[in-house]
Parts: sequence; structure tokens; C-alpha cells
Amino acid sequence: GDSDLINVAIDGPAGAGKSTVARMVAAQLGYVYVDTGSMYRAVTLGAQRQGLAADDEERLTQFMKSLDIVLKPGANGQFVYMNGEDVTSLIRTREVTGAVSHYAASGIVREVLGVMQRNMALRKGIVMDGRDIGTHVLPDAELKVFLTASVKERALRRFKELGQEAVVTLQQLQEEIAERDRLDEQRELAPLLKASDAIELDSSDMTIDEVVDAIVKMSRTKLAEA
Ligand code: DC
Repeated sequence: GDSDLINVAIDGPAGAGKSTVARMVAAQLGYVYVDTGSMYRAVTLGAQRQGLAADDEERLTQFMKSLDIVLKPGANGQFVYMNGEDVTSLIRTREVTGAVSHYAASGIVREVLGVMQRNMALRKGIVMDGRDIGTHVLPDAELKVFLTASVKERALRRFKELGQEAVVTLQQLQEEIAERDRLDEQRELAPLLKASDAIELDSSDMTIDEVVDAIVKMSRTKLAEA
């Protein structure tokens, strides 16, 4: 039955460590990890290639009808295929990152991706990360975590991640992150928001392992209750 599996929703702002944490939690539980941000990124890449504006609902609707997104779990993360093409790396460019908030504000984009995401979680055993998973996509998820960290800490993590390849300053990154937070929090549809029944975890002063341990423990408690 359903009672031996739960769904875990992990929401929060960009750079709080959601994807790393969600992937590790999924691995420890033997669950499937779903990175919903990658789906918004794939839409953005595809729309940009076709020159579709984020506010052109009519053409975006046509585009979404022809869109096929497949997520495949891999050892070091999730592979993303758009209409059969491996776009795993292509969706991580700054060009896509800078535009994705605008496409994520589209009603038709959110509707179509939301249906895909709910279907992925039907059989449970999913750890899904995003912005609106606990509030909209999986309102019945057994465990909801809202993972945050200060803007400063998130910019610093991203800066370290970029390493030698950094073509931006820490200050620029901090501003970009703050701007993306603002767009995600203030959009009309499914804004970034802590669900009332979500547990908030501030990871600013925690290691990744500490965050993962905390969420795995909470998952096991929920599993015992289920
Ligand atoms: O987590 P990420 O940075 O890959 O997400 C990319 C963008 O997609 C981000 O600007 C917010 C948006 N997003 C969303 O609106 N809803 C989700 N469930 C996941 C991501």
C-alpha cells in the first residue's frame, strides 16, 4: 500500500542548497529525486531558442503542447531531456538562469509543468525540490521542508562553486540572487512561500551533512507514523 512510502517536498530560495540536499536525502531513503527547477529551465531554453517572449501566452501554449521533458536519475544528479535532446548542461548557463524567473511566471508554463510533477509523485517515494511544491504541486506531501540561508551565504556558496571560472564578483552574485528571490516571491502565481505546515530549516550555519541528516530523520519519523 501507500503507507510504506512518503513524498518529501523541499522548497526554498535559489542557492539554499536544495538540490544537493534533496539528491542526498533521496539517495539515503532509496527514493527518486525530482528537481523541478530543471523543468522551468528546460522550458526557458526551448522558448528562448524559438524566440518566444515570456508574456506571449498564446505562443507559449502551443510550445508547451509540443514539449516533452524526461528526467532521468543519474549517479551525480539528474539528466534532463527536452524532446529527446540531453539539455542537462545547456539549462545551467547564465543566459537561462537570468531569464527563467520570467518564464516561471507564466500561467500555462506552471500549469503544464505542475501536472507533469504531480504525475511523477503519484506512486510516492519522491523527494521533490522547487518553490511551490509544498504549497501547490504536492499539498498533501507527508513531509514539507522550507530550506533557507542568508543571501550573503548563498552568494558565497555560489561564488566558491564557480571557482576559477567566476566571471562575476561576489557582490554581483549577491545582487542577482536577491533579484531572483524578489521575482520568485512577488510573482502572482504560486510565489515562493513557506507552506503553513512546512518545517523551516535555516542552513546558513549548517553543513550539508547536518541538513541531510535532519531531513532524513524527519522523513523516518513521518514514515513510522504513516
Ligand atoms: O531551482 P532553480 O534555480 O533551478 O529554479 C529555476 C527557476 O525556476 C527559479 O527562478 C524559480 C523557478 N521555479 C519555480 O518557479 N517553481 C519551481 N517549483 C521550481 C523552480
